[in-house]
Amino acid sequence: MHQSKILGTGHYVPPRVMTNDEIAKMVDTSHQWIVERTGIHQRRIADPKVDIPSEMAYKATLKALEAAKLQPNDIELILFSTTFPDMFFPNTATQLQLKLGITNNCGCLDMNAACTGFMYAFTLADGLIRAGMYKTILVVGAEMTSGFNNWKDRNTCILFGDGAGVAILGRTPAGEKSGVKSHVLSGDATKGEHLMLRGGGAAIPINAENVGTDVQCVVMDGKEVFKAAVKTMASHAEQLLAEGNTSMDQVDWFIPHQANLRIIEAVANRFNFPLERAVVNVDRYANTSSATIPIAMDEAIRDGRIQRGQTLMLTAFGAGMTSGGALLTY
Ligand code: COA
Repeated sequence: MHQSKILGTGHYVPPRVMTNDEIAKMVDTSHQWIVERTGIHQRRIADPKVDIPSEMAYKATLKALEAAKLQPNDIELILFSTTFPDMFFPNTATQLQLKLGITNNCGCLDMNAACTGFMYAFTLADGLIRAGMYKTILVVGAEMTSGFNNWKDRNTCILFGDGAGVAILGRTPAGEKSGVKSHVLSGDATKGEHLMLRGGGAAIPINAENVGTDVQCVVMDGKEVFKAAVKTMASHAEQLLAEGNTSMDQVDWFIPHQANLRIIEAVANRFNFPLERAVVNVDRYANTSSATIPIAMDEAIRDGRIQRGQTLMLTAFGAGMTSGGALLTY
């Protein structure tokens, strides 16, 4: 059986910075409230004429290809996680294939597990490489959350931002240690109603009566999501450590989904895990849904915090409620 290795990573965030003060001009909130309750100082917002998900993913992938010293045609499969695709079909993975100039007819699949999507795509990629079916897989999390944000709802509009992160997975060369030690994917549909975007699909098509209403936007019970997030991420961390035969002390970097600094702190506190060894960028980018983990991982690789041979723990949760994680040697 093969092991998989992260050959290269990349990320891209749109240049437009939206501050909390700007949001305070749209809804009844303040910079201080947002910072105290979420840790978020600012987020990036995509210009849809320029940076739709395939385009942000394209810019992130160019950096990952360079880091991995690979060419676009080396990619054999694209697993593209997004909650807000370029369009229903063709899927966004094919749009990325086109932009990258890939001519090998590689497989192209969109996946939606909301903010957990990158962990689902990453785990599938790892499994396919272990099984020997593929050698090089591009795993993408790219999100234009501003497209479904409700800019009149202070409960949600403060939380989200746009961006893309990618990882290219390949076979671990003989003699190297890189690989996934344990993983977990889960879903709990009984809590699905706490975080939804209901309209635009078959159940509630957008029509003349509901256009412009909140069926086109994210709706959330923040308290319920908060509780579920802390509980599932902490229990997944425990499971990852037990199944990976690893102690918390041996984890060099914890890379959690970036939704709220208080959620990250609560999970880290349960394990007495020092926050200095958690990768945090929610202050600058807010919640970029399935892009948060690959963006955070790439930043920490590029600035030298994450080194080859180190142990990383990734955990995510999102609408569904879905959740998942992986413990791996980078
Ligand atoms: N600015 C100012 N006040 C706000 C506000 C805002 N942006 N949003 C809510 N409030 C108000 C509420 O109306 C409430 O007022 P009330 O006491 O008069 O009713 C008060 O602040 C407290 O609201 P509450 O919902 O208890 O705040 P909170 O501490 O739970 O924080 C969230 C709200 C949304 C930040 C928090 O619940 C959260 O982060 N949940 C998880 C969300 C998440 O991660 N979603 C994505 C998952 S992938």
